[in-house]
Amino acid sequence: MAAANGCGQEREMQKTYWVENSADLTVEAMMLDSKASDLDKEERPEVLSMLPPYEGKSVMELGAGIGRFTGELAQKAGQLIAMDFIDNVIKKNESINGHHKNVKFLCADVTSPDLNISDESVDLIFSNWLLMYLSDKEVENLAERMMKWLKVGGHIFFRESCFHQSGDSKRKYNPTHYREPRFYTRVFKGCHMPDSSGNFFELSLVSCKCIGAYVRNKKNQNQICWIWQKVLHRGFVSTGGIETTKEFVSKLELKPGQKVLDVGCGIGGRGLLYGHFEVADCTTKKYPDNTFDVIYSRDTILHIQDKPALFRSFYKWLKPGGKHMARCLRTLVFMRFIAEDRTDQFKEVLQRELNAVEKDKDAFIEDF
Ligand SMILES: C[S@@+](CC[C@H](N)C(=O)[O-])C[C@H]1O[C@@H](n2cnc3c(N)ncnc32)[C@H](O)[C@@H]1O
Repeated sequence: MAAANGCGQEREMQKTYWVENSADLTVEAMMLDSKASDLDKEERPEVLSMLPPYEGKSVMELGAGIGRFTGELAQKAGQLIAMDFIDNVIKKNESINGHHKNVKFLCADVTSPDLNISDESVDLIFSNWLLMYLSDKEVENLAERMMKWLKVGGHIFFRESCFHQSGDSKRKYNPTHYREPRFYTRVFKGCHMPDSSGNFFELSLVSCKCIGAYVRNKKNQNQICWIWQKVLHRGFVSTGGIETTKEFVSKLELKPGQKVLDVGCGIGGRGLLYGHFEVADCTTKKYPDNTFDVIYSRDTILHIQDKPALFRSFYKWLKPGGKHMARCLRTLVFMRFIAEDRTDQFKEVLQRELNAVEKDKDAFIEDF
């Protein structure tokens, strides 16, 4: 049976599937494989060895099942939430692992909007075979929510069966989504989140690999896991990052539907605020006359020799009444030429950035 598109139908189908397949409450049922005990002995330590350090930390296990991983996670974690949407399954998990007093067992669907998890409260979110039981849209929503729940610097680990079924258990029907791995990479890479101070965060890929136990025992390379870390978005090369970019972009008074050309967009920090991307040389590129409402560029025009020719192009590409804003280190220029001396502002911003780098010099060099 194909998986349903609508979330309601999808939920019903996945729940029915798991009610039927978890009736036995065994490792075989959790792994949907007749050789589960042997595989489990080999793959469980392998999976656990890949996790970033979580001693004393706040951990959340989604789709915990009867607790193949719960007990081991509980031994090191500070606090652990183990969540599963099948009542009998999470009760079995509690009967096995309930002696770990740092674990809260929750019967809940991970897609439920009512989950009461505070933002930035979790160090590690762990799931082993969960996202393949969610629709594409549900994976996208959950990825965004996971990112909110994570502390800055926190990690997400997930492992999924890709391309096709791996376990040999017979099933009447199978609503599992065996996706191409690039789907998961695209969704998690696309997660961005601002905080109340105007910083942007993103998920940075720490590792993506297949589970060796399945390669060795089943010649199966389709068991793939990912580790992501929530980090500050490093999309700005120019001085002042998001702070000065926001200030300059606000001066453009952009309106919905306006067309903006960002010349020399770099690694895309400003694109987060308003745009999409194209590779082209602005000294040879041709656009039709009267194309853009605004042309913006920052720390770019100083690198171009024939500035008058470039400005002639900008003039043609701008719609009548359009704006060109450029900041080349010391000048802020509109077509109607507003020149402002921003030296003091940039001295202050540069000093702040220098102090931040000095404070965290080793981490900065390693990251670089
Ligand atoms: C293949 S089992 C894996 C269990 C465990 N993680 C393991 O590796 O042994 C998948 C588990 O995810 C749970 N599950 C599936 N969809 C879920 C959802 N939307 N919310 C919570 N749990 C879910 C199922 O009930 C089942 O226990």
